Amino acid sequence: MSDYQNLIFENQDGISVITINRPKALNALNADTMGELDRLADTLAKDPAVKVVIITGAGDKAFVAGADISYMQPLGAVEGREWAKFGQAVFNKIENLPQPVIAAVNGFALGGGCELAMACDIRIASEKAKFGQPESTLGIPPGFGGTQRLARLVGKGRAKELLFTADMIDAAEAYRIGLANKVVAPEELMDAAKAMAQKIMSRSPIGVRMCKVAINEGLDTDLETGVAYEAEVFGLCFATADQKEGMAAFLEKRKPNFTGK
Ligand code: CAA
Repeated sequence: MSDYQNLIFENQDGISVITINRPKALNALNADTMGELDRLADTLAKDPAVKVVIITGAGDKAFVAGADISYMQPLGAVEGREWAKFGQAVFNKIENLPQPVIAAVNGFALGGGCELAMACDIRIASEKAKFGQPESTLGIPPGFGGTQRLARLVGKGRAKELLFTADMIDAAEAYRIGLANKVVAPEELMDAAKAMAQKIMSRSPIGVRMCKVAINEGLDTDLETGVAYEAEVFGLCFATADQKEGMAAFLEKRKPNFTGK
């Protein structure tokens, strides 16, 4: 039996698919589910067999419809703060997994669901996906990083509009404003996510990892610090077999054989 009650976890050919599995509550994130995500993120981070992670939601209606409102409603101020801190820590962990993480957004991605999608590196949306941060209808702001990640992804003005109005946007609009990387037919969603995962896996694991690290570490600093960081990871790659192989393969006009070493 699986260790997880609210997550389905499959690992095939280097691609791990995590499915948030509480379809009756539209995959809302309660404390148990967040605890399981935290634990699974720790496990994946240490598993060299996992090359790319895909996160999606069970059922055909929701990716994740938010943090669980029945869980949060009775919380006091200190507990509310702890909940936000915990959620932020879990999503930071996902954002900084060594593997690339793709959100396959199959339906509602609201509140904590939109925040989970934004903690992923890349978002592929089904035409049926809907994004939004409806927290202002509940008397709170987003608490799992939404105020920060949304503003960084789509800009301050658009983020404020989405947060203040609590408007839900469709996949086409999410694509237009840069919240979704691409939009595909619902039945093609998982194939599209897996095809992107395969393409990423064909590149140098070290090169990809250093791109992720440089963007994640550098973008929260000023440009000078960010580019200095980039030079460090760029230099580091010259001590790897992947760099020697990638460049030799180019010069020898053949396909590279990357080992991730
Ligand atoms: N928490 C708990 N339960 C939820 C939920 C949530 N976030 N979202 C949906 N559900 C439950 C509903 O209560 C309902 O349960 P019952 O069948 O037991 O009544 C079930 O899922 C199905 O939902 P609906 O009947 O509402 O389905 P719908 O198709 O009519 O509407 C929806 C779909 C528009 C997504 C609507 O469910 C909705 O608005 N959900 C809440 C979205 C939301 O406000 N999310 C933000 C939460 S706050 C947050 O996430 C804070 C943070 O930053 C950490």
